Amino acid sequence: MPEDDRIVSGDLVDDEQDDERENSLRPQIFDQYIGQKAIKDELQVYIKAASQRQEALDHVLLYGPPGLGKTTLAIIIANEMHVAIKTTSGPAIERPGDLVALLNELQAGDVLFIDEIHRLPKIVEEVLYSAMEDFYVDIVIGQGPTAHPVHFTLPPFTLIGATTRAGLLSAPLRDRFGIIAHMNYYTEDELATIVERSADIFQTLISLSGAHEIARRSRGTPRIANRLLKRVRDFAEVAQQDKVDEEIVQYALNLLRVDDHGLDETDRKMLKMMIELYNGGPVGVNTIAANIGEEIETVTEMIEPYLMQSGFIKRTPRGRVVTPAAYEHLGIPYSKN
Ligand SMILES: Nc1ncnc2c1ncn2[C@@H]1O[C@H](COP(=O)(O)OP(=O)(O)OP(=O)(O)O)[C@@H](O)[C@H]1O
Ligand SMILES: [Mg+2]
Repeated sequence: MPEDDRIVSGDLVDDEQDDERENSLRPQIFDQYIGQKAIKDELQVYIKAASQRQEALDHVLLYGPPGLGKTTLAIIIANEMHVAIKTTSGPAIERPGDLVALLNELQAGDVLFIDEIHRLPKIVEEVLYSAMEDFYVDIVIGQGPTAHPVHFTLPPFTLIGATTRAGLLSAPLRDRFGIIAHMNYYTEDELATIVERSADIFQTLISLSGAHEIARRSRGTPRIANRLLKRVRDFAEVAQQDKVDEEIVQYALNLLRVDDHGLDETDRKMLKMMIELYNGGPVGVNTIAANIGEEIETVTEMIEPYLMQSGFIKRTPRGRVVTPAAYEHLGIPYSKN
């Protein structure tokens, strides 16, 4: 099953309607942004200080798994700084000239948000260094005998980079961010609050226990919580139930095969495969990916982080190991010899 089809994937599904609704749910200011307290507190200080000095905010690097609110946070930062935000992504900037064109459109203090910044081409990344550090770029324009260097001075701006894994970023780039924020998975309470807020926007009634049941099955991820809420709401409407309660959440999510820990078929398939074929591991990630028919990147970025976070697998120098908790969750007796 391709990753995009997973209801519990943190990735944005390729569905414009979802997209549109997601925008209506997207918090615009810090007060609407639930959780990530440490990051929020820190950023609010820096934003206040930069605003008072009428300077651009330091460059910010946001990293964490998909759907945890990196893009949302970038938008909030720009809103709270009262500046404009220009959004792009690493792979979209192919040449240094593309970057210069983007930088050229910025006013002093504006935010340039580069999603998937770890996928920036090397030649572009090198041009970014001086832009970030001293607000200038030197690039060569033209080719062959007419080629000549051009020096551009830039307005002070804030670069916000987002990446799913900070380890993928080169050290020189990482070092140029003054503020580095590691986004964490959300707690059940935080997700329940997010679900309640979204239900409110949808004008859907939901019980507290219903919100918590969705929260528990959302793998610590707001995007998944919102997606599950939408699905459950469909079930409630069809059942002509005017309030989403715990029972209908359980009914709907069991049908969708999202279990009470938020694991779906793909997660369970991976765990079972490791248990059945490799006695629980250690198993290398390449072997795992090959056996469950997923890309290695899908395993390391989408499946594994949450299984690790929930204590169902452990990473060891020799590979991934299934924990006793996973055996218990799957109802398989744990026998390790
Ligand atoms: N702290 C939060 N409070 C409330 N809602 C949130 C929060 N964080 C994220 N969301 C909701 O989750 C959705 C997904 O968040 P967002 O698009 O910012 O994730 P992301 O980390 O940028 O994901 P990706 O890695 O795929 O780019 C948002 O549209 C928003 O509705
Ligand atoms: Mg994003």
